[in-house]
Amino acid sequence: MIHVTFVTTDGARVEAQAEAGQPLLEVGQAAGMALEGTCEGQMACSTCHVIVARAWFAQLPAASNDEEDLLDLAAGVTATSRLSCQIVLTDVLDGLEVKIPGFSNDMQVG
Ligand code: FES
Repeated sequence: MIHVTFVTTDGARVEAQAEAGQPLLEVGQAAGMALEGTCEGQMACSTCHVIVARAWFAQLPAASNDEEDLLDLAAGVTATSRLSCQIVLTDVLDGLEVKIPGFSNDMQVG
């Protein structure tokens, strides 16, 4: 079981559990996070944007060029932004913490 913490735009911490191989987007949606994921992981929307806690960002496989291009278009992008549909959970990501981006410009995480 992999534990993931989502930090909502209100600053609330929501703990979720996931299986290895699950996309982070799916886990977030199941936990009630406001992640639209309009394109369902086809990398065509960027509505699944999350801000990864700094300590975890380096643990993730690097984003593809296509993901980087889409992130450029997402609102409130930070240096540790990723598309949650492209993050597949593995055991090394147990404890992962990500923030749901809002429009409050509070970019602090981790
Ligand atoms: S769900 Fe559309 S880019 Fe991730």
